[in-house]
Amino acid sequence: MKTRVITTDRVKLGIKGLDPLIGGGVSRGSVILLPGCVGSGKTIMSLQFIARGAMDHDERGLFVSFEQHEDRLREQALQFGWDIEKLEALGMVRIMRMSKLTIGQVLADLEKAIHSFKPHRLAIDSFTFMALSAHTRERLVDIDKIPSDELLYGEPKHLNQTTPLEWNSIVVKKMVTDLVLMLQQKGITTILTSEVSKNSDWYSRDTVSEFACDGVLSLKATSIGSETQRTIEVVKMRNTKISGGIYDFEFTPQGMKVLSQNK
Ligand SMILES: Nc1ncnc2c1ncn2[C@@H]1O[C@H](COP(=O)(O)OP(=O)(O)OP(=O)(O)O)[C@@H](O)[C@H]1O
Ligand SMILES: [Mg+2]
Repeated sequence: MKTRVITTDRVKLGIKGLDPLIGGGVSRGSVILLPGCVGSGKTIMSLQFIARGAMDHDERGLFVSFEQHEDRLREQALQFGWDIEKLEALGMVRIMRMSKLTIGQVLADLEKAIHSFKPHRLAIDSFTFMALSAHTRERLVDIDKIPSDELLYGEPKHLNQTTPLEWNSIVVKKMVTDLVLMLQQKGITTILTSEVSKNSDWYSRDTVSEFACDGVLSLKATSIGSETQRTIEVVKMRNTKISGGIYDFEFTPQGMKVLSQNK
């Protein structure tokens, strides 16, 4: 079995004010879960992580989008001065829109892109969408008898609506843990966005991502009168002494900026 790439190298996420709160950055190859409610800033933060990595650290970034069209993402990024089109032309960034139905196809495309593009950074937006589609595979009888590879790379023909409900969450959990492990082993620093409701007790809908991932950064947006208060909490960061607390952040013309006060 392949072992994880062990490194003391810190990767700067490129979010102003955030890296100092997490020991200068995350360990290379960390898989970070980014939970937040609608409009909390998940997509912008992921774009910033990919763009700044390419612009400031010469790191190739792959952005996998399950929701927004590539052009919308390029437009959104340009509002903050990140010229994705130019970075794509330089071979530093690739945006990949996933519109496939089965998890087998999605994982096969992702593996292919990782193999050919060899990204240092990866963002999957949203991982919720990907994880929840993990049940779109063949009917499972005994999950332990199915080799991981087969479970991960099922064929489209295995798409089957009759998977019993009780198996869905087990299949999702297995897919999530296997994928996180694969990314950690390849040493690709990753952000997985997670859609949660405002008062959720969990950081993901599959309820396993937060345990499998190396770090959890939780975003919140609360309306106060005509203002939106935005906060980020470093919930968990393996191998890192974290400064606990909830921090305000704002969107400036240069992107997301975490403010120093701790609540
Ligand atoms: N150029 C900009 N300047 C300032 N704020 C912006 C700008 N563009 C977008 N925003 C704000 O950022 C918010 C968060 O955007 P983002 O798309 O990253 O959220 P999200 O968490 O990905 O939402 P969803 O769950 O709907 O995908 C938007 O709702 C908007 O209020
Ligand atoms: Mg989004």
